[in-house]
Amino acid sequence: MFGTKTHLTAHDDHLFIDDVDSVDLAKEFGTPLYVTSEARVRQNIRAYHSAFPDADKYFAVKANGNLTVLCILAQEGTGADVFSTGELNLAGLAGIPKDKVLFNGNSKSEQDHRTALEAGVRISVDSREELESLSSVASELGTWAEVMFRINPDVSVKTHPKIATGLKTSKFGIPAEQVADTYQTAMDMPSIEPVGLHCHIGSQILDISPFAEAVARMMDVAQEVLSSGGEVKRIDIGGGLGIQYAPDTPAPKPADLAQGILPIFRDRCQDMGIRPKLILEPGRSIVADTTIMLTSVNVVKRAHVNFAAVDAGFNVLARPMLYDSYHHVVAANKAEQPAKEKYTVVGPICETGDILAKDRLLPKLERGDIMAFFDTGAYGFSMASQYNGQPRPAEVLVSGDKAELTRRAEDHSALLQGQSIPARLML
Ligand code: LLP
Repeated sequence: MFGTKTHLTAHDDHLFIDDVDSVDLAKEFGTPLYVTSEARVRQNIRAYHSAFPDADKYFAVKANGNLTVLCILAQEGTGADVFSTGELNLAGLAGIPKDKVLFNGNSKSEQDHRTALEAGVRISVDSREELESLSSVASELGTWAEVMFRINPDVSVKTHPKIATGLKTSKFGIPAEQVADTYQTAMDMPSIEPVGLHCHIGSQILDISPFAEAVARMMDVAQEVLSSGGEVKRIDIGGGLGIQYAPDTPAPKPADLAQGILPIFRDRCQDMGIRPKLILEPGRSIVADTTIMLTSVNVVKRAHVNFAAVDAGFNVLARPMLYDSYHHVVAANKAEQPAKEKYTVVGPICETGDILAKDRLLPKLERGDIMAFFDTGAYGFSMASQYNGQPRPAEVLVSGDKAELTRRAEDHSALLQGQSIPARLML
């Protein structure tokens, strides 16, 4: 019923995730609620393992920082791409081995460098300037850093402009033509060991050709590095593979990505006589479709358009507001009823742009109905906020017919956390 999403089915008019009735989950745990299928997480990462048996996969923790999800991925042999000290801590707590962690970031502080070096993880250097400061932190600590260099390959991708990262004008990476030179500088630094090249061209990419272009560009740079006496032991091509959000926009699979890039990677490595470790950093394509977000209808307003006002807004799911993203939505307690009316599904936030879904054909809705937003496992909870005095929601993991709370919902006291009032202002 829901295309390739085999973990989502309808029985007796209710939406099920694996063997669990989502309407029961909404009753038991309350809404808004993020619900993740353990089986689907495993299935998705295994698709990467079989498409790229020799590559390491570093899950992009920014997509989903739920510790339980990270533990499942750690069990499946996944590494981590972390973009902050906070994400580094999460990866460590989940048991991801430090040898499979890459500390990325375009604006790392001295403290970030210190923490990364103390944790013993590799660091992706985003600029020449960062290289200098990392080198002094490492010498100060009496240690050395294994370093990758993030290339800005100047490859354009068809995605939302806010999530294209490999354009000449984007803030990430060292311009490709400066990388070999920077590598050379690093080779002369006693506390730096340059080990490879890194790149990430953007997110939600549905066409394989820009990945092929980026790999070719990286291999050109690798060639320059080799010619100037450097060694390239690792090539990390980042993440970015898109998923099918809308029924009419199919997405390539990890196997398609493998088919598009592995021949280039292998041929070029063979020509150069090198055998670097290939690394991928998928986020969205591993977790997005594993998760639904359940939300209750508070009000159905028949105005200029039909509004279904639910208890989750862009505080819970920011993507539609930020990127005009499409998330498929169904009525979880009317899953088999015919779609009869058009609704715009809006949240409780005091902003006109707080729209989760526009003009969707749905069964006739009423207060108390449970709506399920699909494909919310990537950049869903991880971008949730407390805006407008809204505590963040709970997260649940479903395994077969079992449902377990993996993060309890915040209560209103969370809004007070860390605040203090200067005594002179107390009444
Ligand atoms: N590696 C690096 C260095 C990244 O910056 C990212 C994502 C990834 C890997 C994972 O990319 P993925 O496989 O998930 O496409 N909030 C946006 C997406 C931002 C992506 C940021 N970087 C959204 O909701 O669409």
